[in-house]
Amino acid sequence: MSMVEGARRSCLAVPGSSAKMIDKARGLAVDQFFLDLEDAVAPLAKAEARDRIVGALNEGGWDGKIRSVRVNALDTEWTYRDVVTVVEGAGAELDSIILPKVSAPDHVRWLDLTLSQIERALGLEPGRIGIEPQIEDARGLVEIDAIATASPRVAALIYGPADFMASINMRSLVVGHQPPGYDVGDAYHYALFRILTAARAADVQAIDGPYLQIKDVDGLRAVGGRSAALGFDGKWVLHPAQVDAVNELFSPRQEDYDHAENILDAYEWHTSAAGGKRGAAMLGDEMIDEASRKMALVISGKGRAAGM
Ligand code: GLV
Ligand code: MG
Repeated sequence: MSMVEGARRSCLAVPGSSAKMIDKARGLAVDQFFLDLEDAVAPLAKAEARDRIVGALNEGGWDGKIRSVRVNALDTEWTYRDVVTVVEGAGAELDSIILPKVSAPDHVRWLDLTLSQIERALGLEPGRIGIEPQIEDARGLVEIDAIATASPRVAALIYGPADFMASINMRSLVVGHQPPGYDVGDAYHYALFRILTAARAADVQAIDGPYLQIKDVDGLRAVGGRSAALGFDGKWVLHPAQVDAVNELFSPRQEDYDHAENILDAYEWHTSAAGGKRGAAMLGDEMIDEASRKMALVISGKGRAAGM
């Protein structure tokens, strides 16, 4: 896993072309933000956005948030210039690069090698800047295991639902809502579960993408609640109105956190009382064993990372 650890419950998308939105982002209670050079920025505004992003990173004031930039995808003419400008200009103030539309491990290797070159040229700490590949099309999902392990810099796999839905010709225009006519389950389950499994196998984080109906916080809770319940670590937010809901969805519920801590205490107490010879114990009416301890560690770890 990359050196870019820490909670990513909420990741705020900020258009790199908007000085106003960049300023506003500083005050929001998100774990991560990314300054976007891709789909939120018009082709003619990209060059100016690069410079604005370099300025915003160097200015600081990001208050411990994970600082990321999303560059353009490798099938455009912009990617190399995005990486060179941003990392040469503000590499020491950047924690990771989000690479969109990754459909092959070579994309990640290209970015890894390019970052290593710039780090060497500038004397930056080698390997510190992480890579977060976005899985946004059918090829990316098919290649996901190789993508997740293509570089030790990979810190998280991010689901790009809007592009992904377009890529597979899904008959829905609303991200996260079930396509009309599909009434036999959750049309997103396979993609989400595949990404989550690849992320866990590679020991990196799994992040859900955006929910576009920014005024519909109930819809956000329903869609984000699914990926949170599966085990995803966080989700993108596009607007201040989405921040609290997403932070809450991706933190354990207080009662689950307390229960997990009780399991850990009880297990520790019973097994050490038996001189290390007992594998299972009782907590009230509940049988707890090594597997219960592992499940409890997940909830307790997420809760502690969220400051509970
Ligand atoms: C995000 O980039 C998406 O395509 O959903
Ligand atoms: Mg996308």
